[in-house]
Amino acid sequence: MAQLWGGRFTKETDQLVYNFNASISFDKKFYKQDMEGSIAHVKMLGKQGILTGQEVEGLVGALKGILHEVEEGTLSISHEYEDIHSFVEAELIRRLGDTGKKLHTGRSRNDQVALDMRMFTRQELLETDGLLKELLHVLLAIMEQNLDTYMPGFTHLQKAQPVTLAHHLGAYFEMFKRDRQRMESIYHRMNYCPLGSGALAGTTYPLDRQYTAELTGFYGPTLNSMDGVSDRDYLIEFLSALSTVMMHLSRFSEEIIIWNSNEYQFVEIDDAYSTGSSIMPQKKNPDIAELVRGKTGRVYGAMVSLLTTMKGIPLAYNKDMQEDKEFAFDAMDTVKGCLALFTGMLSTMKFQKGNMESSAKNGFTNATDAADYLVNHGVPFRDAHGIVGQMVLCCIEKGIAIDELPLEELKDISPVFQEDFYDAVSMETCVRKRLTIGAPGQEAMKQVLALEKEYLGSDWKAGLKEWEVGLLRDV
Ligand code: ARG
Repeated sequence: MAQLWGGRFTKETDQLVYNFNASISFDKKFYKQDMEGSIAHVKMLGKQGILTGQEVEGLVGALKGILHEVEEGTLSISHEYEDIHSFVEAELIRRLGDTGKKLHTGRSRNDQVALDMRMFTRQELLETDGLLKELLHVLLAIMEQNLDTYMPGFTHLQKAQPVTLAHHLGAYFEMFKRDRQRMESIYHRMNYCPLGSGALAGTTYPLDRQYTAELTGFYGPTLNSMDGVSDRDYLIEFLSALSTVMMHLSRFSEEIIIWNSNEYQFVEIDDAYSTGSSIMPQKKNPDIAELVRGKTGRVYGAMVSLLTTMKGIPLAYNKDMQEDKEFAFDAMDTVKGCLALFTGMLSTMKFQKGNMESSAKNGFTNATDAADYLVNHGVPFRDAHGIVGQMVLCCIEKGIAIDELPLEELKDISPVFQEDFYDAVSMETCVRKRLTIGAPGQEAMKQVLALEKEYLGSDWKAGLKEWEVGLLRDV
């Protein structure tokens, strides 16, 4: 047992209590942020004359050394310590003696952990955004090649109207684009530095919080010290955004599972992204898509867990807040893994265009267009709807498509039918004529593709000079 706070205690902590309380097994995940935050803190203490130049040099050098050794694997983070903060401080004292004991001047673990978690989350958010962008690039490439790949669009999982593969995938492009926009807005809201909030009421040292914030890549300091140590809104927002990413990935996975089924055969998942059965030799299963769908629950779970943890906590810091970490880390890793695998699966997947097209042709997806043809020839829409309904019934009995009914039979149904009917309800016409922006018609889709391309040509992260390098600005 190694802890920072033994002074006022007369008894050793019970081992079970110690174990229950300790967080090192999971907060070691942000060892890098912890040490970067400490380096910034020390530099600021030096600038303010609270530490001497020599002390700053010693502390910064030792912190960089510890960080380097941990990264290299030559120093392992010992679980003997209560948390990562205690481990680093003990290591500093071991190396520097009394100077090491000065690290924690003007700081509490409450503002320290608030800073570490925020820096870690910020890094995760940027990585997740990058993975979303890669997925968007893959989607755009497939869309560009499939403006003329016809397929049925569905409502109620029943064939509804013809669309194209480009159009269908374009819906997901929009979803993942919004997911990135959520990342961006969360970033801007969360990017304020809690360090200097102290335990809850600031400190009596003349800290320069603006300077620490600059060193750690934040826009500025948080404006209320009690909020600074007890705010986890940013993490809840991030988990909520991650849940939405998973919801989108899960819907997409569900479609891929359906499309990959024997009945549909719209796609073939690459062998590298499929798995077999231990008993049925013929099987090639869409396990990756199923796992992405399945893992959605644990990400939602992390969000609900943190919301529940936070809801009864009086200001300011309470130990409940230590529970913000494990599920959140799991959710962050899960989403990054799912995004990377899903993108790989999508980019290697084969689209069975012929099957998609014949499915669209054989499912009366042009029935609305047949009714529109009648309307264009003066028949009121409600009557046209009824007439085409009868035609569909007749076609079902005969086992044919609407445009396979001979003209004489069509004329028996309604005298307005002419030879041009066949062209009016062809798959090509049905799609081509859907020209309003957002619709599947090729001309409309080309305009949208140009916009999506332009969107992918720039990146909101490009303006974030501080964090591109992922480390402290050396001011
Ligand atoms: N492990 C703690 C956490 O994650 C660090 C802060 C401890 N602060 C305290 N007052 N006990 O929240």
